[in-house]
Amino acid sequence: GDVAVLVPAAGAGLRLGPGGPKALRLLAGEPLLVHAVRRVAASPSVRLIVVAAPAAEVEAVRTLLTPVAPVTVVAGGAERQESVALALAAVPAEIPIVLVHDAARALTPPDVIESVAAAVRSGRPAVIPVLPVVDTIKEVDADEAVLGTVDRSVLRSVQTPQGFQHSVLAAAHAAATDPLTDDAGLAEKAGIQVTCVPGSDLALKITRPIDLILAEAFLNLP
Ligand code: CTP
Ligand code: MG
Repeated sequence: GDVAVLVPAAGAGLRLGPGGPKALRLLAGEPLLVHAVRRVAASPSVRLIVVAAPAAEVEAVRTLLTPVAPVTVVAGGAERQESVALALAAVPAEIPIVLVHDAARALTPPDVIESVAAAVRSGRPAVIPVLPVVDTIKEVDADEAVLGTVDRSVLRSVQTPQGFQHSVLAAAHAAATDPLTDDAGLAEKAGIQVTCVPGSDLALKITRPIDLILAEAFLNLP
């Protein structure tokens, strides 16, 4: 394998409602992080997995993941971007490709991970898995008055893992100022061309309680 995958898992999961850190919340009896890491480890390109855990849970996460896959566990930070930077610091320079995932996209299939890695390997500096936008999208003002309808055919919904040449991701993070919600955004700010590949419905980000219900249904698909 020539790929390191960073798995930020240090978030609180506030939108999921009361409970522990989201990555440790159960889906079909197993923590979301276990589902996510199992699928990452099943991707043949992957040589190294680095998990950014809640600071208080680093040892517990090491123990949890030992039977799942060999992983490096570091303490995450206050923002996702900080957790990614802390995980990235644990990747040796000789690994040429780095993917940044979300523990919350726990059911992302290995074939999405492989196709992102393959596009980076073929020479793309930055690659993101995307889906078309299905809803009609309106732009509104501060009073919720509609300003217009956006042409959704040119919009994409963005998932993870997002893949980068190692040096590109390192430079994008080194140049980062304000926290962004994704790593490709940092690359865009640094003037890097970002390329889209097809994502998957299974890569939904488990965010609200209803997403746990959807994910459980996905797990039971034939
Ligand atoms: N994440 C992280 N470090 C943070 C915040 C988020 O590693 N300081 C991770 C989360 O664990 C998750 C991913 O980034 O796997 C995407 O974040 P999100 O879905 O927003 O998760 P949470 O921040 O945990 O949820 P919420 O925003 O509802 O609190
Ligand atoms: Mg969050």
